[in-house]
Amino acid sequence: SNEEENTCTVLVQSNGSLGRLVLVRLRLEVRPGFPALDWHCSRVEVCRLADRQEGAEPETQVFLCDRWLQTADEGVELRSGKCENLSVFSRCCSRWRMIVDGAPQSVDMNSVSELMPNLRYTRADLTYLKGFTCRAETWTSFSELETVFSHSGHQNSIARFVQAHWKDDWYFGHQCLNGSNPLLLRQTRLLPPNLSVTAGMLQPFLREGSSLQRELQEGRIYLLDYEVLDGVPANVVNGKQTYLSAPLCLLHLNQQGQLVPIAIQLQQNPGPQNPVFLPSDPGSDWLLAKIWVRAADFQCHQLVSHYLKTHVMGELCCVATLRQLPDLHPLHQLLMPHVKTSLQINLQARASLLAADGVFDKAMGSGLKTLPVLLSRASARTTYRSLCVPDDLEDRGLGNLPHSYFAQDALRVWDALHRFVVSWVNVYYSRDDDVQLDSELQHWITDINTHGFTHNSGSACLLYTAVLSEHLEHLLLPLLQLDFALWMPNCPAAMLRPPPQVKGGMTEDDILSFLPDINSTCRVLMTLVMLSQPAHDSVPLCHYNEAIFADGVHRRLVEEVQGQLTAISEDIAERNSRLELPYPYLCPAHIENSVAI
Ligand SMILES: *[C@@H]1O[C@H](CO)[C@@H](O)[C@H](O)[C@H]1NC(C)=O
Ligand SMILES: *[C@@H]1O[C@H](CO)[C@@H](O)[C@H](O)[C@H]1NC(C)=O
Ligand SMILES: *[C@@H]1O[C@H](CO)[C@@H](O)[C@H](O)[C@H]1NC(C)=O
Ligand SMILES: *[C@@H]1O[C@H](CO)[C@@H](O)[C@H](O)[C@H]1NC(C)=O
Ligand SMILES: [Fe+2]
Repeated sequence: SNEEENTCTVLVQSNGSLGRLVLVRLRLEVRPGFPALDWHCSRVEVCRLADRQEGAEPETQVFLCDRWLQTADEGVELRSGKCENLSVFSRCCSRWRMIVDGAPQSVDMNSVSELMPNLRYTRADLTYLKGFTCRAETWTSFSELETVFSHSGHQNSIARFVQAHWKDDWYFGHQCLNGSNPLLLRQTRLLPPNLSVTAGMLQPFLREGSSLQRELQEGRIYLLDYEVLDGVPANVVNGKQTYLSAPLCLLHLNQQGQLVPIAIQLQQNPGPQNPVFLPSDPGSDWLLAKIWVRAADFQCHQLVSHYLKTHVMGELCCVATLRQLPDLHPLHQLLMPHVKTSLQINLQARASLLAADGVFDKAMGSGLKTLPVLLSRASARTTYRSLCVPDDLEDRGLGNLPHSYFAQDALRVWDALHRFVVSWVNVYYSRDDDVQLDSELQHWITDINTHGFTHNSGSACLLYTAVLSEHLEHLLLPLLQLDFALWMPNCPAAMLRPPPQVKGGMTEDDILSFLPDINSTCRVLMTLVMLSQPAHDSVPLCHYNEAIFADGVHRRLVEEVQGQLTAISEDIAERNSRLELPYPYLCPAHIENSVAI
C-alpha cells in the first residue's frame, strides 16, 4: 500500500557485463505454505555492484511499475527510459462486447472478479434510506412527501432550496443551466416546426414592445427538446404501466436575466390532443406540464448525459487503451489514471442497477425495454463535437448567458486540462506526422471508431481531449443528482398516468396521482444516496499516484496543471461565498480523477 512501502532486495549474478538494461521482467511465484497474495510493485531499481567495486559511482536504472502482480500472471515487462519502439511489449487482451446495437461497445466481461486488480477499487459502506420498501401506493399528500423529505433531505441545503423553489418558473430555467443536466438547453433562432405556437400566443410573456420574432433574432429564446424519448417504450412499475413523453419547451431570457419557460408541448406531434401549456394556464396545469419536462429530463440525465456520455465513453476509452496501447505508451500512461475505474463501475452497474430487479427495472420510467432503444438513439445523436465542452457550448449558444455557472466553470477546467494534454503530447510527438507514424495510436483511434462511433468519426486530437472532458462532465453528477432529486416532484423517476390531452380541471392533489409510488420513490433515492458515496481511494483531478508523473518533465507538467486547477478552485470558492445558492460542483478540488461512481 502507499503508507507502508517495503523494499525487497534481490542479488542477480552475471558472468559478463550486462551493458545498459532495456527490459526487466517480473514474475510472482507462489511459495509453498504462503497464501498466493497479490503484490503491488511501485518500481524496480537496478544498481550495478561491479561499478562500486571499481570505485565508480554506481549507476542506477529505474523501471517504473505501479502495478499489482498476481501469481497467475505470465510476468510483467518493465522498461527504462524513452519509448522508442513499444510494439515489442505486451498489452492486455481485453475484448469488445456488443450490448446495445448502435451504442458504443463495452468490455467483454460479466463481473468485477474478471478484472485485473489494477482496474479495481473499493468504496465505503453504503447507507440506505430505511423503510417504505413495501408501500406500493401513491403518495396521499404533499405533506406526506414533506415528512419523508424532512428525514432524508433536511441536512442538504441545496435540496432544501429545491423544495422551496421547485414550482418557480425562474428556478425551472435555472436548473437547465445550473442544475444537474446542463447539457440539453440550446439557443434557437427559429421556432421548432413541431411546436404549435404562434407569435400571438407568446406575446404576453415577452418584454413589452418586443415581439417573438425580435426575441428569436436577438438570441433570447432557448429550447429544450426531448425528441430522443419520442416513441420509446415505457416501463411497468409495481405492476402499473408508466408513461414517457418527449416534450418541447421554449424558454425566454427576460429583462431580469432569468430564464423562464413560456411554452410547453408534451408530445412531439402537434395536434388537438397535444395542447401547448402556457404560464397563463391554471396553476396546476402549468405545474404539471413543468413536472413532465422534469420527468423527461431525469430519464435523459440518468441514461444519456450520465450513463452514456460519461460511463460508456470512459469504458470505450479504457478498453481501447488496454487493447491498443502498451502500458508504456505515453498516452496509456496519461489516460489510464482517468479511466481505469470505469470498467468496475460499469460492470457493477450492468449487473445491478441496469439488470433485472435493478432500480431501472423496478422503479424508473425507463425500464429494461427502454434502455436499448434509448441508448441506441442517443448514441446516434452523439458526436465528438458534442463531447468537447467549448464546441458544445458554442453550438448550443450558451456563451452569452449570464451566470451559467456550469458553462463558466467547465470552460476553465477544460482549458487547463486541454493545455496539460497538449503539453504532454508535445513531449513525445514533435512533428505532425509523428502521430500518423505511431501505428499503435492509429490502431487505438480505429478501435474507438469501430467499436464506439459507427456512424461518425473524428480526429484524434478531438478524441483524447473529449475523453478527459467527458469525465469532467461526469464529476459533478454524483453530487448533483442527489441534491436535485431528493425532493422527488422535482425529478420524478416515472409517471403513472399519460400526459394530459386537455387543459383545466386539475388540482394540486391530482398531480400526486401522476407521481411515482412511495416505495419506488424511496428505491430511487436509496440508489442516489448510495451513488453519492465517494470511493475510499478517490484521487482529485490531476493528482496521480503513478510514479511516471513524479518524474522529470512530467512532474513539471503536473505541477503546472495542478497550479491552474488550484487557482480555479480558489476563484470558485470566492465566487460561491457571494452567492445565495453556491455552485460548487465543478470545483476541481472536488472532482475525482476517474469515473468511479
Ligand atoms: C518495432 O518493433 C517491431 C517488432 O520488433 C518491428 O517489427 C518494427 O519494425 C519496429 N518498428 C520500428 C519503427 O522500428
Ligand atoms: C413495492 O412494494 C410492492 C409490494 O410490497 C413490491 O411488490 C414491489 O416490488 C415494491 N417496489 C419497489 C420498487 O420496491
Ligand atoms: C445560475 O445560478 C445563479 C446562482 O443561483 C443565479 O444567480 C443565476 O441567475 C443562474 N442563472 C440563470 C440563467 O438562471
Ligand atoms: C413532427 O410532427 C410530424 C407530424 O406532424 C411527425 O411526423 C414527426 O415525426 C414529428 N417530428 C418528430 C421529431 O417527432
Ligand atoms: Fe456515474
